[in-house]
Amino acid sequence: MQTYYSDLLVIGAGLAGERVAVEAAQEGFDVICLSIVPARRSHSSAAQGGMQAALGNCAKGEGDNVDVHFGDTVRGSDWGCDQEVARLFADAAPIEMRRLAHWGVPWNRVVPGKSFYFKGGEKFEKEEKEEKRGLITARSFGGTAKWRTCYTSDGTGHAVMCTMDNRCAELGIDVFDRKEAISLIHDGDKCTGAVVRCLRTGELEVFLSKATAICTGGFGRIYKATTNAVICDGGGHIIAHDTGVVPIGNPEAIQFHPTGIVPTDILVTEGCRGDGGTLLDVNEERFMNIYEPEKAELASRDVVSRWMTHHMRQGKGVKSAYGEHLWLDIRHLGDKHISTKLREVDEICHHFLNVDPRKQLIPVRPTQHYTMAGVRTNKDGAVYGLKGLFSAGEAACWDMHGFNRLGGNSLAETVVAGGIIGTKIVEFLKGYETDFKTSLVAEAVRKQQDRIEKLRSGANGKENVYRVREEMQDALMEGCFVFRNDAGLKKCIDTLQGTLEKARNVGLVSDGLGANHELAAALKIEGQVKLGLCIAKAALERTESRGSHNREDYTARDDKNWLNRTLAYWREGADMPELQYEDATPCYEIPPGDRGYGGGSIIEADKAEIEAKMIKK
Ligand code: FUM
Repeated sequence: MQTYYSDLLVIGAGLAGERVAVEAAQEGFDVICLSIVPARRSHSSAAQGGMQAALGNCAKGEGDNVDVHFGDTVRGSDWGCDQEVARLFADAAPIEMRRLAHWGVPWNRVVPGKSFYFKGGEKFEKEEKEEKRGLITARSFGGTAKWRTCYTSDGTGHAVMCTMDNRCAELGIDVFDRKEAISLIHDGDKCTGAVVRCLRTGELEVFLSKATAICTGGFGRIYKATTNAVICDGGGHIIAHDTGVVPIGNPEAIQFHPTGIVPTDILVTEGCRGDGGTLLDVNEERFMNIYEPEKAELASRDVVSRWMTHHMRQGKGVKSAYGEHLWLDIRHLGDKHISTKLREVDEICHHFLNVDPRKQLIPVRPTQHYTMAGVRTNKDGAVYGLKGLFSAGEAACWDMHGFNRLGGNSLAETVVAGGIIGTKIVEFLKGYETDFKTSLVAEAVRKQQDRIEKLRSGANGKENVYRVREEMQDALMEGCFVFRNDAGLKKCIDTLQGTLEKARNVGLVSDGLGANHELAAALKIEGQVKLGLCIAKAALERTESRGSHNREDYTARDDKNWLNRTLAYWREGADMPELQYEDATPCYEIPPGDRGYGGGSIIEADKAEIEAKMIKK
């Protein structure tokens, strides 16, 4: 069997993975990255609007600094985040943006002089200063006090991904594409690599490593309506969770983006609203300014998605053959703006809707977009439960987003966390030696060979993997979407328990040989349904509303009882996850309070407990 050795194995070669890899390779460590698609086709490439970093260069960013960014992030998370981690992130983001410029990212820059901008459909004037000429500029995004989102038109992810992949090539990092890790090699204490399926040949291979990093992005594809690429299917989460000792952090924290287009759910960037676009209802009237007079369309995503859904429930949605939706209006931004700063949106509208956004409205609705949930790590990116295992980016819950991530904070997180965690992995690797036990490797490979053989031979059962997947997706759409309640969640759990049984009895229709997609889907379906059950069970237990977790039957944010993070374990032989809880944050720089948008009541935490954890400055 083909066996590879490295100091660091990075599973997933999107932005977080490659940034981790760069950090370790720069220090002379031997790094291998695995990706199921060519690295430049990773989902990071689909990120449009930009990366938040408090540079304060543009006129509307004046007065911004890392403290303001930190505060926005904590409020955005609805006080669900780890404030130490949010602080690490906000402080490092400006440095990382400049580093990316040095590596070649063609950021949009400040152009001095007067110009117009739109806010909520109204036109305003601003003046950029001569002394800021050529510095990295920024646009407005939701939930922020300042214009802080650095961008490259609306193809930011693509631009940064190409730059990072070039950097990997410069450093001679091996980036193997069409390789999928299907299990970790571990002894219950320590991780020493992965069993990998080559997606070209179907052959199994072994990758042994001193350190392993899971950077496989989110798992949005377990929902039917999602902006996520088909590769965002939870592969990394599943192999970590399957060990039985690694928890998923905050599985109930799932983000729904306000503007997925209908019917395909492809993202049109929050930059549309940041640049002045508005949301309209069936009567072509604005409504977000009524619900949120201060921030309107630029409240945080959880709030906008909630009000959009509410507004449609009031009968103000547009009926269509593909379900109800609302409109996004960017017509007033004009041809020049759309052709230069929103050109991907323009192309998406043209190719997927046959709509010209200069003249026509764009049909949009809230759709799954991001998983704040992830493989639980500490602030060094070290995964709970297994030494030598790390995670970064959307795959991880380290946890800077809590219950709602701000737009532009995740693309920035990929590179900021990638850099920080890459450095921590380097510290871990220095002087670290491990042995690769042949018996452990043989056992891990044999287990995967057996699974594949059972699926191919029909010994497993005859359930169709695509039908089982659809059942899971439907259940989550119905029970665990923007609004949740006791009855809906119990029904969802009930359905998913049946789905889990079917997932365990899947058999292939095809022969399963070579580059077989059905086999790839079958190998992860049980793990996907388990993730779904973690979401539903954790959402049922959390009897409060916080960020994107909206309970219709528990509408208050309950800081007295729920200022904590869920840890969902799946123990061997279990039929349901085991939930544990830990404090959301080890310390407070900003005590829990009102976010300033989103409304809702708060059940206050014990003041003495908060005071005891306040950082004294
Ligand atoms: O709307 C967007 O451009 C998405 C950005 C993000 O998810 O951070």
